[in-house]
Amino acid sequence: MRKFIERAIQKLPKLDEEQIRTLIMDLATEHERIELVLDSMNDGVMVSATDHTLVLVNKAAERMLPFVSHEWYERPIWNAIADSEICDFVRQTLTNQESAQDREFTLDGNGANRVLSCNILPLVGSGVIQGNILHIEDITEKRAREARLRRAESLASLTTLAAGVAHEIKNPLGSIGIHIQLLQKALRAQEQIDRERMEDYVEVVNEEVDRLNRIVVDFLFAVRPIDVQLEERSLNEVVHDLLEFVKYELEEAGIELITELEEGLDAIHLDEKYLKQALMNMIKNAMAAMPGGGTLRVSTTQRGDDVILKLCDNGLGMSDELIGKIFEPYFTTKDFGSGIGLTLAYKVIKEHRGEIAVISQEGKGATFTITFPVPQKEQHLLGWNGDQA
Ligand SMILES: Nc1ncnc2c1ncn2[C@@H]1O[C@H](COP(=O)(O)OP(=O)(O)O)[C@@H](O)[C@H]1O
Ligand SMILES: [Mg+2]
Repeated sequence: MRKFIERAIQKLPKLDEEQIRTLIMDLATEHERIELVLDSMNDGVMVSATDHTLVLVNKAAERMLPFVSHEWYERPIWNAIADSEICDFVRQTLTNQESAQDREFTLDGNGANRVLSCNILPLVGSGVIQGNILHIEDITEKRAREARLRRAESLASLTTLAAGVAHEIKNPLGSIGIHIQLLQKALRAQEQIDRERMEDYVEVVNEEVDRLNRIVVDFLFAVRPIDVQLEERSLNEVVHDLLEFVKYELEEAGIELITELEEGLDAIHLDEKYLKQALMNMIKNAMAAMPGGGTLRVSTTQRGDDVILKLCDNGLGMSDELIGKIFEPYFTTKDFGSGIGLTLAYKVIKEHRGEIAVISQEGKGATFTITFPVPQKEQHLLGWNGDQA
């Protein structure tokens, strides 16, 4: 395009009026096409020059952002935006000559919140920075979809859980039925009543009722929605606290505790009570996997926007088949296990928007890795001034 214009300018003195008119029309058509492309996009685009004055706004940006007035050209880009938080964000990023990625803002648009994700990128041409692009994406739908997916996931796990309960209560109920029949038979028998045998039957019924009770209590524990109260906190602090609490127990079990908490990690959103409970369940599992003692290594690190916590033991380990089942409710390999520990841990980590993964081999210990996302800054609820086009 530029080459074409340069050539045209060189030839300008030789062109007649008609030819110049055609040239200008061609340029106008070209310009319109580019404008049309920009205006047809779903994403908002605003462009500023090196002195930060606004030089271009597309239709989507006009729809998404509240503007101060419609005379937005030739003033700093941030002054055109009526929303103070977005305005501050743009001003700070541009005056500090920074770029920004995926900053999220929630606009309260007449009852229906809209979530916008903003990027600021340098506009580079011919090797020099010629200004900046503010790219705005409406991620309201995306966030809503994620929320729906989480609900569907929890519904699906509820179904598995209900199936698990049904399966679990079948045995004790069957056993209770049989022993009550035996009792009836014994009572109806003509001969002398055998008190001792009858007490044995009653004893079995009692035990089975206890078992049923435990199943119900565990079930409630597993399905009860957990109301995590997320606060921006240091993961290291919480982990350190918990380890102080369990270190004597580990020592008594002959387990050496190695702690490697990396300094300077970003704060994450966490619920101290639930997170400690989840980690406690996992530490108890590690202890159970090292009946003759061993080593438990607890470490934290950060990789980009993720803070990572690892729990690594050198206990019994698990086969691949076992790994596939350990998060299922009621799955246990222990005689007196509930099979709920990791189900809860999983649920808690999910509520933290985190991920939990495990690597293990039979006889070679297990490593559980929990990944927490670092919260995006500037996640505020903003006022919508209703001044938009
Ligand atoms: N660190 C570990 N090493 C080996 N096996 C483990 C470990 N953690 C969990 N498991 C396996 O996962 C199963 C489920 O754990 P969990 O849900 O806590 O229930 P429970 O501890 O009551 O069995 C355990 O029974 C065990 O087989
Ligand atoms: Mg457990």
